Amino acid sequence: MSEPDGGWCALTDASEVEEDDVVCVNVRGHAYAVFNLGGDYYVTDDRCTHQEASLSEGYVQDDTVECPRHQGVFHVPTGKAMCPPLTRPLRVYPARVDDGRVWIRLSG
Ligand code: FES
Repeated sequence: MSEPDGGWCALTDASEVEEDDVVCVNVRGHAYAVFNLGGDYYVTDDRCTHQEASLSEGYVQDDTVECPRHQGVFHVPTGKAMCPPLTRPLRVYPARVDDGRVWIRLSG
């Protein structure tokens, strides 16, 4: 991880995330899920909004991820909760790829 740069923070090398897959990256005690959906990168919280579960251990299909615990489905680009038992959306962070790394904006 790099130090924040104008609110932007490098999470991981883009090459670490295979296409149509997701990895968990921990930064300062917070777990983020980094998705590569057909070459487009998205970063969300890793923790499911329903209960304790890691979405990076879930099932990625098209632009959604299915929680491994109760099979709730989120739309990754927007964080929208698509089905029960989910009621709350997933936080999605502004993200970009620069210099081969995936960056997110943590503030500002
Ligand atoms: S913990 Fe994710 S759907 Fe229940």
